[in-house]
Amino acid sequence: MHTLGINAAYHDSSACIVRDGCVIAAAEEERFTRIKHGKRPVPFTAWELPFHAIDYCLDAAGIELADVDHVAYAYDPYLLLDERDATMTLPLEPSAGASAGLSPWEPLFLSYIVNAERQLVDGMPHRLRRRFATARTRRQWQWHFVEHHLCHEASAFLAAPFDECAVMTLDGRGERASTSYGHYAHDDYRRLGQVTLPHSLGLLFEDVTEHLGFLRSSDEYKVMALASFGRPRYAAEFRRIVEIGRDGTYRVEPPRLAERFGPPRAPGAALEPRHFDIARSLQQVLEETVLELAAWLARQTGAPSLSMAGGVALNCVLNGKLRDARIFRDVWVQPAAGDAGTALGAALWIDWQHRGRRGYRMEDAYLGPGFGDDEIGAFLERAKLDARRVADIADETAKLLADDRIVGWFQGRMEFGPRALGARSILASPIRAEMQERLNAIKDREDFRPVAPAVLEERAAEWFVGGRRSPFMLFVFDVAADKAERIPAVRHVDGTARVQTVNREQHPLYHALLRAFERRTGIPVLVNTSFNTHGEPIVCTPRDAVECYFTSPLDALAIGSWLLEKARP
Ligand SMILES: [Fe+2]
Repeated sequence: MHTLGINAAYHDSSACIVRDGCVIAAAEEERFTRIKHGKRPVPFTAWELPFHAIDYCLDAAGIELADVDHVAYAYDPYLLLDERDATMTLPLEPSAGASAGLSPWEPLFLSYIVNAERQLVDGMPHRLRRRFATARTRRQWQWHFVEHHLCHEASAFLAAPFDECAVMTLDGRGERASTSYGHYAHDDYRRLGQVTLPHSLGLLFEDVTEHLGFLRSSDEYKVMALASFGRPRYAAEFRRIVEIGRDGTYRVEPPRLAERFGPPRAPGAALEPRHFDIARSLQQVLEETVLELAAWLARQTGAPSLSMAGGVALNCVLNGKLRDARIFRDVWVQPAAGDAGTALGAALWIDWQHRGRRGYRMEDAYLGPGFGDDEIGAFLERAKLDARRVADIADETAKLLADDRIVGWFQGRMEFGPRALGARSILASPIRAEMQERLNAIKDREDFRPVAPAVLEERAAEWFVGGRRSPFMLFVFDVAADKAERIPAVRHVDGTARVQTVNREQHPLYHALLRAFERRTGIPVLVNTSFNTHGEPIVCTPRDAVECYFTSPLDALAIGSWLLEKARP
């Protein structure tokens, strides 16, 4: 049984294919179209389906679109429509939804979504016709609209390594919900409650992101990075905005940020201390709130572990606080926690509903396209590139890294989710502090942005306080005091680092590289940042990798068994 999951309502459009409970493939549309986040999350783009990601998923499963048994679309427009509106013929009064807190363009948005199946059958780009063309006459699938938050929830508990867990999802918004709670146990899922709009911690974070001069629904992680430079002197103000209620509820008052914190920062304008302090205060109140919600959820469920998803769960400082609070024995965050992951959740949910049993645990996030040595070699030859095929790419790359060269690392299947995890990464040595600046210059990023370490899982506890398995780079850890001097490039201003642990099963070649680097330097840690430049999605194909390599100051490219090197200055 094949189930195709699609996320397209807002942004980070993506697709996922599940076969008999097992995830075969998942990817974001942005990696194929090279448009960051796929599209902007506005009503006018809701018609756009992630055709390239779907095409890739079908290819990975070896089927055509017509062969799919279920299509699970990660948004349910009927939660916002009554019978009368169900055909969604425009024009509805643009203001019709205003009383429900909806945008005046909600009818347009919903009508696009109601018609998504027709768009899937007829709207594919011409060059992708091959796997789509027979769907018009031969399709037999059942179409499902699945509630947005249920998709986030399913993406957490159906992928998590637990037989029982509490579930918490936090994001900007779904149809009506912004937060959901549930309890997964004995192969059964019980929804415990939701917080609905306009109350949303995710939207508040987006509002502040915009107020601080960054792009909302995109740059929230920059606000998290800013926070570690600030003081929480506005925390009391934010506590007036966010009011925690009983039974897992909270209210978010209209934030009126300009009134409280002064005029918004113009994009690109200098960052002042108050901007850092606003970010820090927001982060603090977010942490306090989510910890309290988690404590309530723990009491409700009695579950030993917590699974999370939703865009807010990408906040790795918050996740570190949740872990350290020990409300739950274990906290697991699904790596594509943002909306991309709802394609995964939708497909897993529908598969589970129809087959009645689970067959998947997400051990790694390498669910995207991979390219064999033959394919890479043919491409490099055709492009007449001077590449050297080496017997031990891990060792050769370690040698370059130990020599302070910055290397593009393209190995195996691409990651699903926003973090590069050693398949499409830019890697460097953590030994010199100035490496952070060099990397930020390569990527044309702001100076305040930290870079993160990858560490051998078996060495994590020696280098990071409480270091343990963290394969998705979604938790911060304190750098061990006696090691801080040795890896200054990955230590953030507050003494923490956003750690990825690597074991042999997860990615043998990446693991071998870390081992080889350790043999040369005594340090089992590398700097890992995503393989892209400013404003670009992470590279997907060998061609993307080569283009990024030649148009950025990268020193070398390790792609499959091939090595490309630029002359030293
Ligand atoms: Fe979401």
